[in-house]
Amino acid sequence: MAIGIDKLSFYTSEYVLDLVELAQRRGVDPNKYTIGIGQDKQSVIPNYEDVVTMGANAAAKIIDNDDRQQIDLIIFATESGIDNSKSSALYVQKLLNLSEFSRTIEIKQACYAGTFGLMQARDYVANHSGKRVLVIASDIARYGLNTPGEVTQGGGAVAMIVSESPRIATINSDSVYMSRDVADFWRPIDRTEAIVDGHLSTDIYKEMFLTLWQRYKEQSGRTIADFAGFSFHLPYTKMGKKAFDQIIDEADEIPQGRLLKNLKASQKFSRQVGNLYTGSVYLSLLSLLSYAQDLVAGEQLAIFSYGSGAEAELYSITLQENFFKYVPANETKKELADRKKVSVDQYEQIFNSQLLDSHENVSSDHPDADHFQFLGWQNGERRYK
Ligand code: COA
Repeated sequence: MAIGIDKLSFYTSEYVLDLVELAQRRGVDPNKYTIGIGQDKQSVIPNYEDVVTMGANAAAKIIDNDDRQQIDLIIFATESGIDNSKSSALYVQKLLNLSEFSRTIEIKQACYAGTFGLMQARDYVANHSGKRVLVIASDIARYGLNTPGEVTQGGGAVAMIVSESPRIATINSDSVYMSRDVADFWRPIDRTEAIVDGHLSTDIYKEMFLTLWQRYKEQSGRTIADFAGFSFHLPYTKMGKKAFDQIIDEADEIPQGRLLKNLKASQKFSRQVGNLYTGSVYLSLLSLLSYAQDLVAGEQLAIFSYGSGAEAELYSITLQENFFKYVPANETKKELADRKKVSVDQYEQIFNSQLLDSHENVSSDHPDADHFQFLGWQNGERRYK
């Protein structure tokens, strides 16, 4: 039975920071950010957004009444969750008016958890015929003002509905995966910013990709010639390129040109948004599906997911007939183009205004009737509308 991604959507905040302006303020050559690291802009997340609102806002774009009947499980993947006990999936269930006769769960393993959620969703549908699973990957990447990681911040959410007979892509049963205890990135429970050794992370990412690629080829019998494109987890776009450069010479000249063109297509949205941890690899997939001109039904894409700490998975998907009709390419391009630009001063003020203290009763209402919002704290409880 074919199971996979039936619907896919993306949401990020309405504010964006130009990284050339950030480079100038930080006294850095802008080419370091735009060429060396490969990022042009980053989403700036205001204090009336969090992983719940962004996840619900992404999912609201694709949920219809049939989904409300058939969604049996809501999986919420995040590194930047808002509660140490209660699952963000419960808030989303209520905001989206989903059935209470569903399972709701939050999962964590740095940037990898979205992929685990997707695999769980596929297995769940295989065992519960006719049911659908909502998978949300939502995060805010915070490293701190004036830190080396600052240029790789960002945020947003990807929502996917996994079902039988999917309209976008089937998820093939060919995963290879690995995990190892590594101190490249983590966030102690009392901190709001990650601790990161970005150079170590790059090394482990590249090593795990190469190891899994060799293992994938051995186990599946496939080669690079079997793929029309690759989507990588993109904490910054140069990272995926560094991994891919290790294997690109395995392709003949003409397919190599196509794969490199499609790699660029897979980076375009991330260049404009920045890191969204769990959702990054799926924003890369959405970007590839939105910008690649030559993909056809039946072709396969490889997906490399990585989460620091560290865990990685490599698998493939197969594009379905008329898949492009169900990819929100123009909508996503328009939403990114329509964002409001903030100055570096405004970004710093927004960064420092997060409502993190649950002991204060505080309200953050923002005049926007179209999107879910975090309204602030009341007696330690997060309030949404
Ligand atoms: N023009 C063009 N390129 C330039 C440049 C310039 N003027 N100055 C520097 N560069 C290049 C460097 O050569 C380097 O390229 P390379 O990696 O291909 O060699 C790149 O820009 C970055 O320079 P570097 O000195 O390594 O930057 P940094 O020490 O400030 O760190 C990151 C960059 C990405 C490692 C840092 O931002 C980070 O740690 N981010 C977080 C990453 C993360 O989230 N990891 C965990 C999740 S997977």
